[in-house]
Amino acid sequence: MDQLIVTLDGPAGSGKSSVARFLAKRLGLEFLDTGAMYRGLTAKALHRGINPATESHAVIELARNTPMRFDWNEDPPRLYVGKLDVTDRIRDRDVTGSTSEVACLAAVRQVLVETQRRIGKEHPKLVTEGRDQGSVVFPQANVKFFLDATPTIRAKRRVLQLQEAGKRADLEQIRRDIIERDRRDSTRKEGPLICPDDAIRVDTSGMNREQVISHLENLVREKM
Ligand code: C5P
Repeated sequence: MDQLIVTLDGPAGSGKSSVARFLAKRLGLEFLDTGAMYRGLTAKALHRGINPATESHAVIELARNTPMRFDWNEDPPRLYVGKLDVTDRIRDRDVTGSTSEVACLAAVRQVLVETQRRIGKEHPKLVTEGRDQGSVVFPQANVKFFLDATPTIRAKRRVLQLQEAGKRADLEQIRRDIIERDRRDSTRKEGPLICPDDAIRVDTSGMNREQVISHLENLVREKM
């Protein structure tokens, strides 16, 4: 098989990032975290003193003129936006809060979708995760998944993730943030969060990470 593209889409905190990372390892594929790209651009904008809520032109300009690259030799991979290493900033609350403002901008999505397709060409054996990977970026993907879970479970997972990174987290606040982010992601015009018709929907509410990874791995192997 020359190309094996597996897409994982779903709402905030559905566990996509870590599932996609481990799934890629088990299958011997590369892994692309597209949420990190929207977060990384946001981190760079904030670093430059740009307010994404009011200065969309400056954000678009930044997206068009700043190359983005992952260093896949590191585990987890490091992300550079221009020369700035944004890896340790992208999960901070201020960056997370502003990212969906950035992700709503059609011109920004155009640039990042193009970059993602280029990465797909360079690495045609890929697990890629986001909101629009199966619907917009790789409609020709070999296997498409849509992961979901209840907002409370997703918020609990995010709290654990932040605590593991040594950061403080308030469950109720995170739950509210997640619901608001889902609303913005699902209602935007360009690349909204949707479950493509040809995707396999997996409700991960009652499953641990290992169970989700094995389930997905088995489904992909059936198609290999
Ligand atoms: O998946 P993650 O929580 O890291 O994504 C952060 C934000 O980036 C999402 O809330 C969404 O607004 C945006 N995003 C997107 N399209 C993608 C991936 C992420 O709009 N493919």
